[in-house]
Amino acid sequence: MTSKLTDRLGRPLRDLRISVTDRCNFRCVYCMPKEVFGRDYQFLERDALLTFEEIDRLAHIFVRLGVEKVRLTGGEPLVRRNIEVLIQKLATVDGLDIALTTNGSMLPHKAQALSAAGLKRVTVSLDSLDDDVFKAMNDVDFPVARVLEGIDAAAEAGLTPVKVNMVVKRGLNDHSILDMARHFHGTAHTLRFIEYMDVGSTNGWRMNDVVTAAEIVSQVNDDMPLEAVEANYEGEVAARWRYRDGGGEIGVISSVTGAFCGTCTRARVSAEGSLYTCLFALKGFDLRGLLRSEASDDDIAEAISSVWGNRNDRYSELRSSQTKDLPRVEMSYIGG
Ligand code: GTP
Ligand code: 5AD
Ligand code: SF4
Ligand code: SF4
Repeated sequence: MTSKLTDRLGRPLRDLRISVTDRCNFRCVYCMPKEVFGRDYQFLERDALLTFEEIDRLAHIFVRLGVEKVRLTGGEPLVRRNIEVLIQKLATVDGLDIALTTNGSMLPHKAQALSAAGLKRVTVSLDSLDDDVFKAMNDVDFPVARVLEGIDAAAEAGLTPVKVNMVVKRGLNDHSILDMARHFHGTAHTLRFIEYMDVGSTNGWRMNDVVTAAEIVSQVNDDMPLEAVEANYEGEVAARWRYRDGGGEIGVISSVTGAFCGTCTRARVSAEGSLYTCLFALKGFDLRGLLRSEASDDDIAEAISSVWGNRNDRYSELRSSQTKDLPRVEMSYIGG
């Protein structure tokens, strides 16, 4: 279903990313640094989270407004108990593409159930194959092998194509770029390199930390020659590159050096039900209050239409000395 709903820059509302929890069993340095998200960190109370019924109701409303794809995120979405039950509900919406972004650690025992519930595919975050680097970046006490097992389990369960997201941070894991490329070369999985972004205000981002998409492509190309491939669909975030030897493809997400705001059709709903029209938004619009009031689906649809109709975000295109110190929502809260 298409809708005429567009924002002030003419962009339709097509993708919805819903965070189902603000918790995670990882503490990635670029997302939940442990100095900030330590033992005393106040995560959301259970009744602050949208229930599965509320999320399902919202999803139906968003689909009426033109949404074609829902991606479940977190925090780590698989730490939300019985997430399969939510997937089962969403899977009843005709033609809706349902995906999930996970750190992969729980996939070895969850992949089958997720697939059976109706999940179509997963994206797994993995920043290095080197256990020491992996541990230094994520502060977990299990090896990379467990995430690799998770990727295999996802593929076996038919959650394909499995995409693997690697955030590259200079000096931390940039020396893992080739290792990762070689490892996934010749598999059916698509490795995607992401430029490290200044989301949130806890990760101490500096431009110098960014390894640019151009650098990444050139490094991989020198080792295994690449050629550019057309996007799968309009507004695809990753630029696609194919190995000339037929070993599959990689993606490069130039979130910093090649902003893609012009085609950004994504809305985000945080775990407590706030609607954000940009990854870098300062504040959200409270949908939970509406969901828990007497408001009808039409009332809620109207509120969402109004927020989207007023949207003019294009943070990454404007990123500059003026935007640098503005407060913004944390990635772990809004879900990548
Ligand atoms: P598919 O093409 O359906 O697989 O989805 P996707 O590429 O949108 O999904 P994914 O969650 O894997 O997105 C990849 C990464 O790109 C995210 O984790 C973010 O780091 C980055 N990203 C996604 N959406 C945006 C966005 O709207 N703005 C910016 N600046 N970065 C984004
Ligand atoms: N910059 C780029 N990508 C990030 N992610 C989390 N934080 C950042 C950041 N600062 C990615 C994760 C995951 C997705 C949810 O967002 O690697 O793939
Ligand atoms: Fe957890 Fe993902 Fe954030 Fe890492 S990036 S801390 S895995 S939510
Ligand atoms: Fe979309 Fe905001 Fe990212 Fe631009 S910065 S692509 S508007 S989420």
